[in-house]
Amino acid sequence: MENKAISILKYNNQEHIIEILEKMNLERRENLINQILGVNFKEVNNLYNELKNGYKENINTIEPIKYVEKNKLLLEEKNEYDSIGSDVIKNNKLAVITMAGGQGTRLGHKGPKGTYMLNLEDIFGKEVSIFEVLAQNFIKAKSEYNVDINWYIMTSNGNKRETVKFFEDNNYFNLNKNNIKFFVQNDIPVIDENGKVIIGKDYLIKTASNGNGGIYEVLKEQNILKDMKDKGIEWVFVSGVDNILVNPIDSIFVGLTIKNGDMIAAKTVKKVDANEKTGVYCKKNGKIGVIEYNEISDELRNAKDENGDLLYSQSNIISHLYNIKALDLLTDVDLRYHRAHKKVPYIDNNLQEVIPTEPNIYKFEKFIFDAFENFDNISILSVNKEEEFAPIKNAEGNDSPETAMKLYTNFLNKHI
Ligand code: UTP
Repeated sequence: MENKAISILKYNNQEHIIEILEKMNLERRENLINQILGVNFKEVNNLYNELKNGYKENINTIEPIKYVEKNKLLLEEKNEYDSIGSDVIKNNKLAVITMAGGQGTRLGHKGPKGTYMLNLEDIFGKEVSIFEVLAQNFIKAKSEYNVDINWYIMTSNGNKRETVKFFEDNNYFNLNKNNIKFFVQNDIPVIDENGKVIIGKDYLIKTASNGNGGIYEVLKEQNILKDMKDKGIEWVFVSGVDNILVNPIDSIFVGLTIKNGDMIAAKTVKKVDANEKTGVYCKKNGKIGVIEYNEISDELRNAKDENGDLLYSQSNIISHLYNIKALDLLTDVDLRYHRAHKKVPYIDNNLQEVIPTEPNIYKFEKFIFDAFENFDNISILSVNKEEEFAPIKNAEGNDSPETAMKLYTNFLNKHI
């Protein structure tokens, strides 16, 4: 095994690890060797080559995309969508996936982001975790539709154990535990500026989860799609763990998508200011996509339609709906990796920890919305931020626990 691992390292230009291996005690050495045997170094080296060659997406055309504003729907439209969507929900054909495999570095909380405690005593009479807040959607659905909606939670390799334990310790927030299932996304090594993998404090190659776009491949690999099909699920709502106002069981959203005959849908919130640093939905090279703030020209960012509204205004809030057949298609689609430059501590050749002061590694992530280019149509439902979007990204300031709790409390006070 050791010889095999050494050949793999040599073949893939990662010889520096051999030196570190030789200095390790037997147990650590065995663990690292086992890990080396499972790493896809070919993919890592391809990503490094792309990095060296300065990969840049060619964006030739950008066009606006159609959307519907939830608050401007006519009563008849609302009723029709609600009736179609309610049928799906009542018959337990809608499932929800919460993606909780991110690292939450900006929030800086030690455990999984969903375990972050919020001071919402006014509403709950106690401090509650993000997961517990999200669980309220399922409790509400049970009382409205009398169903136990299936809840799937995607974790990373690193946070799975802690996430599952948190649910167990909290008695699954009084939901039926048979309707809650966890699955784990894949990891990919991070690399330094020279394409070398690094060793972390645990004496293993430092890896990170491969982005929320990593969801599609594992739905198949871990038989989640099969489980859904066995349960008769036809529609799947997918969102991040960090929007405490998420409205995942939304008959209007489901009904609109079905009425439009679409296989995929996304909720958005409207930008108030052209300079908000969010990605917006558009048609990129004729295909459905999200254009990031740093990819869009000043001219397009500020462009307005005949009513004076921004042409590119629909911000991505990672709230998506898929027909199960669309997910089936996407499990085999190869999404490209985006990269981020980050500061990550590592163990050097003398087994000493080094804490970098500048970004020292590249982390690779697939983005969930990149898969939308495989479809001709999408239903986009623009919702009110005050009603459906209270994200927790940063420890302080914008999109922090404080701003999210305020939005949550205001919403609940208005709707109780
Ligand atoms: P973000 O892009 O906000 O990343 O993820 P993050 O890792 O949570 O936070 P930072 O950037 O390190 O501060 C958006 C959503 O996608 C999920 C996150 O859990 C969050 O719900 N996600 C992200 C995954 O499930 N897996 C990933 O690999 C990345």
